[in-house]
Amino acid sequence: MCGIVGYVGRDRAADVLLSGLASLEYRGYDSAGLAIICDDHVDVTRAVGKLVNLRTVVEAAPPDGTTGIGHTRWATHGPPTEDNAHPHKDCSGDLALVHNGIIENFVELREELVGAGHDVLSDTDTEIVAHLIEASYEGDLTAAVRAAIERLDGSYALAVVHRAHPGTIVAARKDSPLIVGVGDGEMLVASDIPAVLKRTRDVMVIEDEEIVTVTASGADLTGLDGEPRPDRRMRVDWDVDAAEKGGYETFMLKEIHEQPAAIQNTLRGRMTSDGTIQLSELDMSPEEVAAVRRVLIVACGTSYHAGLVAKRLIEGWARIPVEVDVSSEFRYRDPILDEDTLVVAISQSGETTDTLAGVREARARGARVIAISNVVGSSITREADGVVYTHAGLEIGVAATKTFTAQIATTYVLALHLAQAKGTMSRDEVARVWAELEKVPSMVQRILDDADSIAECAAQYTARHSSLFLGRGIGVPVAMEGALKLKEISYIHAEAHPAGEMKHGPIALITDHVPVVFVATQGRTYEKVVSNIQEVRAREGEVIAVASEGDEEIAKHADHVLTVPLTSEELSPIPAVVPLQLLAYHIATLRGCNVDQPRNLAKSVTVE
Ligand code: AGP
Repeated sequence: MCGIVGYVGRDRAADVLLSGLASLEYRGYDSAGLAIICDDHVDVTRAVGKLVNLRTVVEAAPPDGTTGIGHTRWATHGPPTEDNAHPHKDCSGDLALVHNGIIENFVELREELVGAGHDVLSDTDTEIVAHLIEASYEGDLTAAVRAAIERLDGSYALAVVHRAHPGTIVAARKDSPLIVGVGDGEMLVASDIPAVLKRTRDVMVIEDEEIVTVTASGADLTGLDGEPRPDRRMRVDWDVDAAEKGGYETFMLKEIHEQPAAIQNTLRGRMTSDGTIQLSELDMSPEEVAAVRRVLIVACGTSYHAGLVAKRLIEGWARIPVEVDVSSEFRYRDPILDEDTLVVAISQSGETTDTLAGVREARARGARVIAISNVVGSSITREADGVVYTHAGLEIGVAATKTFTAQIATTYVLALHLAQAKGTMSRDEVARVWAELEKVPSMVQRILDDADSIAECAAQYTARHSSLFLGRGIGVPVAMEGALKLKEISYIHAEAHPAGEMKHGPIALITDHVPVVFVATQGRTYEKVVSNIQEVRAREGEVIAVASEGDEEIAKHADHVLTVPLTSEELSPIPAVVPLQLLAYHIATLRGCNVDQPRNLAKSVTVE
């Protein structure tokens, strides 16, 4: 999730752009850069690390131009280096471009452009777009951008400047946010409203597949077809803090609502046109993947719960035995590993000390290690043999939400990839699962759009001191994640168990003051879960049930039903966890807890 800004007006562009980039700092980044149109050239300055590093370089010799673009990079392709930092230029050096998004077909485009003689300098997908525009440019910058984006598959918010067009910025978007700030004798483009608020509160939101040509006097908005689009100017009364949260009260709530996009971006490009799963980052040949005899997953906290989901998927689809270990145990238990064992380290931050130690332990014992992480270039990703990145964008709230569902989406890809290599699923079977998987983002969106009942339910449980979360099968890690969410942000004691374990102890905890949350979505053990619910109700227990749409039975047994779209048992964890995230969120908020920064917790646990 990068940030882009652009400015054209009377003032020195470098000052305005640095200020705009500072407002996007909450999006996190590992490098930044500016491109300013000067009299006879495009001046590009880039720096790795925090924005202050770029500011130091620019302010030492600030370019005077009044038209420019800027970028904060949150790496998705290629490590955070100066060469990979934006803006990127074309061969001529006359054109510079910044981009937020993922270009899926950049490899084939790069081959085409290199074959045509273009000199590509970076590892990024973004630079390819600069050369693509160059290849189409015949004097009309907007037309060249239009021609180039017709060739792109994937997501983009672009801003482009050209030496021959001082005073002009061309911008376009698809699936990544882009707005225009309308000033008095000046105009801005940006990823987010915070970047323009210090200059203007009049903004236009650019829609998908629209192109906007911006000069100091105004903006010309057209569709990909070249037809004019209406001026959708609006007045924003947000303060900067609210704007950084996209208008949500907290980063956690914003990130819960970003899950459809996080899942979609994580799945993007994983299914090729011939029906095979694409996981080239594993850096494993089909033969090496087929030779995997055992999988061992190491992770902590929420990532451990994603590993438990992965166990059921890989064992069910690829018929390979899977063990899942908390990293702090794995690293000290003298694990038995060999070259047929694939170790998978799951860590959204890529910095968790126990998981990093697990990676080192596994590699020292000869196992191949792959990482699933959300942060490009993090320690764990640098030490693993292969890395599969989630594309959830920076997660600021300490409680993991969008990175969890993005991790699960990635484990679907991994499990299907293993099943194809092992021949345990046919291409048609994989295609059927994939078709259902692609509906999951819209399922999550439907839950988010109809979440009032979850907030109403939460309001009845803010004064409780303890709770139970129960499930069966793939519902067990979902119950565990629901319990972790509640305890870590509301400080209410919450524990999770397989529902079948109740009679072996936990049922002693049932009273009319200990709410019991059941994951009761449709699956092979649904009837067993209903029986467990009845056992709780027989002891005056209160039941909150997460259930599938169309389930008429569950309402007879539960005090509250949190309904989610019906899907297959294997695909149920993502829809099923979203109500539990929101339940924990609303209970914690009503209790006055700081959900973004819960007491005693850190976003990344870099100590033992
Ligand atoms: C989850 O909400 C917590 N923030 C915590 O359990 C977290 O999942 C755990 O520390 C692992 O972090 P990682 O994914 O960055 O390794």
